[in-house]
Amino acid sequence: MSETTFYAVVGNPIQHSKSPQIHHAFARAEGIDLGYQRIEAPLDAFGETVRAFFSRPANKGLNITVPFKEQAYAIADVLTDRATLAGAVNTLWRDAKGRIHGDTTDGAGLVRDLSVNHQITLNNKKVLVVGAGGAVKGVLQPILNEKPADIVICNRTAARAGQLAATFAELGAIRAAEFSELEGAFDLVINGTSASLGGEVPPLPKSVIANQTVVYDMMYAPQTTAFNAWALDQGARLALDGLGMLVEQAAEAFAIWHGVRPATELVLKGLREA
Ligand code: ATR
Repeated sequence: MSETTFYAVVGNPIQHSKSPQIHHAFARAEGIDLGYQRIEAPLDAFGETVRAFFSRPANKGLNITVPFKEQAYAIADVLTDRATLAGAVNTLWRDAKGRIHGDTTDGAGLVRDLSVNHQITLNNKKVLVVGAGGAVKGVLQPILNEKPADIVICNRTAARAGQLAATFAELGAIRAAEFSELEGAFDLVINGTSASLGGEVPPLPKSVIANQTVVYDMMYAPQTTAFNAWALDQGARLALDGLGMLVEQAAEAFAIWHGVRPATELVLKGLREA
């Protein structure tokens, strides 16, 4: 019989994290025996928290959330290519030699939610990404891999959008624009800002939304987010929130740790109905 292994999500604050519920549901469905808990790391002691966790042999993997993804990137001994490009890590695990590996599954989770759960393809589409913080940085490479026709990045602090566009330009068609320069409608508008947390909407011109436009707020909340409500008011075809991305990034992390990608449909449905 295999021994029970242990996992956790580390953040601050962390009490509302749905990750334990998601990973326990995957484990039940796959017949895997594991423990998964929340750990609130002190803001000045993330490194100590991670090292203390991995000092126990049965503790195998961590998910990392706000505000520690950049620190997790710095702690990892070995990084995947996509984590290196993102400069952020949301999944850590320890190998047999004791080295800590880091990956980011957020972008893969977003693309999978769009393409598999909602049949929205990115190939040849016009995509607008709003925001230029860590959340956006983590998803650009997987989006570019789908070969959209064009990605425009727009941010309140325009210089940050310019820097991101320059960093990712070698991977595909991506450019920065000011809000006032945006012209015409997009097929997909992704909100990667934290504006919805304060009930605010970035100052996008109405013209970015047409009746074929799908919008995706990377935040999620029990009610429609401020951004999604705004987009629906402008006539968007569909407004999705980040719950699907959350479940899909968890499934990617689960696959890294356990070698099997769990089905996500029922877990997502359960969370929606909770
Ligand atoms: P995260 O890691 O969640 O991306 P972050 O790095 O602090 O956090 O980035 C937050 C993003 O939301 C930034 O793009 C920020 O714009 P600035 O770069 O100008 O700060 C954006 N943002 C936050 N509040 C906003 C608001 N009320 N309106 C528009 N953009 C906002």
